[in-house]
Amino acid sequence: MSKILIVDDDIASCRTLQLHFRAAGHDVEMAHDAVNGLAMAESFGPAVIILDIRMPGQSGLQALPDFKTRFPQTPVIMITAFDDMDSTITAMQRGADDYITKPIDITEMDQAVERAIKRRQSNGLGLQLVAPDQASSRGYAMVGNSRPMKEVFKAIGLIARKPVTVLITGASGTGKELVARNIHRVGPTPEGPFVAVNCAALVETLLESDMFGHEKGAFTGAVSSQPGKFALAQDGTIFLDEVGELSPNIQAKLLRVVQEREYLSVGGKQAKQTNARIMSACNVNLKELIDQGRFREDLYYRLQVVNIEMPALKDHLEDLPLLIPHLLGRINRDFHKNVSTISVEVMEAFYAYDWPGNIRELENLLMKAVAMCPGETITPDLLPVELVKQAPLPSPVFDVQMSLQEIEKAHVLRVLLHTGWHRGRACEILGTSRPRLRRLINQYGFEEPNDAPSMDSDSG
Ligand SMILES: Nc1ncnc2c1ncn2[C@@H]1O[C@H](COP(=O)(O)OP(=O)(O)OP(=O)(O)O)[C@@H](O)[C@H]1O
Ligand SMILES: [Mg+2]
Repeated sequence: MSKILIVDDDIASCRTLQLHFRAAGHDVEMAHDAVNGLAMAESFGPAVIILDIRMPGQSGLQALPDFKTRFPQTPVIMITAFDDMDSTITAMQRGADDYITKPIDITEMDQAVERAIKRRQSNGLGLQLVAPDQASSRGYAMVGNSRPMKEVFKAIGLIARKPVTVLITGASGTGKELVARNIHRVGPTPEGPFVAVNCAALVETLLESDMFGHEKGAFTGAVSSQPGKFALAQDGTIFLDEVGELSPNIQAKLLRVVQEREYLSVGGKQAKQTNARIMSACNVNLKELIDQGRFREDLYYRLQVVNIEMPALKDHLEDLPLLIPHLLGRINRDFHKNVSTISVEVMEAFYAYDWPGNIRELENLLMKAVAMCPGETITPDLLPVELVKQAPLPSPVFDVQMSLQEIEKAHVLRVLLHTGWHRGRACEILGTSRPRLRRLINQYGFEEPNDAPSMDSDSG
């Protein structure tokens, strides 16, 4: 049995939680604002505090530092709005031990409480308190409400202020750079520069001078000395993208930077100092590169003091309903369009697809669809054929009021989409001849998407 204090202005929600925890044998008290919550914490001495972020008067976020100062050993679980990444990160930075999003999933809440109680028993230290974060997301907002994305947000909040080297791993398009930018944004030097280096883009000699700079006369064409990215990232962050591609020579130089915080420019004799925070990203398995002798193990351990692993999109498809409006909003602004709806068939195709290119692929695909979209709805004909083809047939919703002709129209279209406009296969499924299929297509005014396979196209 443990003592749990719930601080939430929503009385109904408090009561539900109270009943739930009492049934599990805990001792539960409630308070409905921050001031009473603090007083109650004093008298009740809870093992765990559950604190709602949104409350009238002092918000949970504002009150959190008071709770952590007065009860440093008591874990605090925050309740946040379901899609508010910024307050989540801020809460973790201000010392929250965990967070749960609304609407509350009771299993998740139980797990969080259990973790918190365990941590307290093992006498784990509370997180350090930090100054409030005023930076806005400046277009780098991340969305997601799935377990894997919440773990990512939590990690960002926990490590952003600590001077640790971070390695972000994950397949291409999963959001690695976006995470790096968010860590920078909520870290100790948000006003400082964020300088990205693509380690795969340049040949070794150019990359070396790009990273470390060069002195005048260091090589043919070096007419003046140039600062490198490490110099530009002073007082800020340097982001080494595709770090697995670095040559052994540059790996050795980078190891020196990470260990000693100093480097030599190309042709330089005097070591230069850097205070830039180093983050790196990689979409290949560095451990395999180490086994093959292509990546230094000592450098690997220096770079991945903290490792954030980005989930593949197919492992958090439940975020699609958040990701799509978010990305569409941006695309609509850029294209001066107002595409706001996605047809049911398209959503089904999205859920069935395995997204090898992850969120970037989703973004590109929406961009193309919006560009080609004549109205406000994205329909299957605007999607690449391979995506539509993978989709299972949408389950038919044949209303009892439908005429045979309407059913015929809907079914022919479904089959065409399913086969990616392969007329041979469509005829097989429908049990019709090609001329008849052609007549049906013309009669119902179906239009073949431009990128459909050209084989077997007998349009006309
Ligand atoms: N959680 C997210 N919420 C909103 N947008 C996202 C999210 N994750 C990724 N994006 C968007 O998807 C695109 C790809 O993200 P990003 O460039 O960070 O991925 P990456 O892992 O670095 O990809 P690559 O391996 O191709 O370099 C960007 O436009 C980014 O804004
Ligand atoms: Mg990237």
